Amino acid sequence: MLYFVKTAVFFEESSLDELKSASSFKIVDKELNNLIIEAGPGLLEKLKRRDLTFIHSAFKIDLKSKISKGRYLDSLYAPVLKAVKAAKIGKKEVVVLECYDINNKEGYSAKDIEVNLGKRLIKDGYTADLINPSKRVYMVLLNGNCYVGHEKLLGGARRAALDPLRHAAYRVSRAELKIEQAFNEFKIDGGGIAIDLGAAPGGWSGFLAAKGYKVIAIDTADLDMKSLSKMGIKKVTVEKSPKNIARSLGNADIVHLKLRSAEPLAMLRGVKANLLANDMNLDCRTSIGEAMKYARFLKRGAILILTIKCITRNAPRYIKEARKLLKPKFKIKGIKALPSNRQELTLYAVYKGR
Ligand SMILES: C[S@@+](CC[C@H](N)C(=O)[O-])C[C@H]1O[C@@H](n2cnc3c(N)ncnc32)[C@H](O)[C@@H]1O
Repeated sequence: MLYFVKTAVFFEESSLDELKSASSFKIVDKELNNLIIEAGPGLLEKLKRRDLTFIHSAFKIDLKSKISKGRYLDSLYAPVLKAVKAAKIGKKEVVVLECYDINNKEGYSAKDIEVNLGKRLIKDGYTADLINPSKRVYMVLLNGNCYVGHEKLLGGARRAALDPLRHAAYRVSRAELKIEQAFNEFKIDGGGIAIDLGAAPGGWSGFLAAKGYKVIAIDTADLDMKSLSKMGIKKVTVEKSPKNIARSLGNADIVHLKLRSAEPLAMLRGVKANLLANDMNLDCRTSIGEAMKYARFLKRGAILILTIKCITRNAPRYIKEARKLLKPKFKIKGIKALPSNRQELTLYAVYKGR
């Protein structure tokens, strides 16, 4: 059987090891971290049972077809229609089409293709719509081939996009996508007080404030006030040595302590935060060392979201190091190379308490 598997872009070796631990497979097509593999049935179920760090998503492929340059859209529609017929999708069933063009060379956007092929399906008597679909037909365009698959959609359930970054938009900084993806991936919710280490220019702080957290943002660099204000985060104060941090927090959405992470410790006396975020661009050991100093300002059960920067691509080395260093104070719940992580991983843990 064929599958489309999307893995972490910077950690190829670890991604393939993770895949191997689920099933034996053969790569039949590939572009960077986008793989078409041949593996036995049941791969998706096997992957679901694992705690995955390096594999973003996997989809079954029903058929493969060559794309014709001269008759481009026709050569995409033919396999889609064939897959729809083979899957016995009824003409009254609502189908949503999704296109992921990996090395787009023809200049059509994924949306152009979806709209064009959707119209053709409707002309052929099918019901193609974005609203309340019960089936998804997807196409992965890769190296001159069109790989088509389909799946049932459970009512209302959020479905993983084939291209996880297709609709990704940020307001303050690209880093904002990482915290958003971490909240989704690890199903984090909540509010209260958040401490954000390495906060500038403010993507994470803005995201957290928009979620309802009161944020203590720590960074020597400036926050991008203009972008934060566009997000609706208007009450941002900048301080160097707050006398009463609780009062400062009472009057602001974000209190920016313009200091290095080691400096404000004495100023935070009395703070009991619900979340500690750390996206500082420091090596794994130093960064975790700084996070550990903040454990005393956390409530028991508080959330830690930390970016593990990997100086080399040997991810397992950093995972091992992070686990060992955090173990005395935090219980690690998950480590993931998120779609927006570059050569780094995102760790989610909870504070064990004193
Ligand atoms: C990747 S950026 C953070 C981006 C941020 N999370 C966002 O969403 O906009 C890393 C930041 O860490 C800060 N940083 C590095 N070492 C630091 C330290 N020891 N104390 C405070 N900030 C530090 C840098 O100034 C830089 O702004």
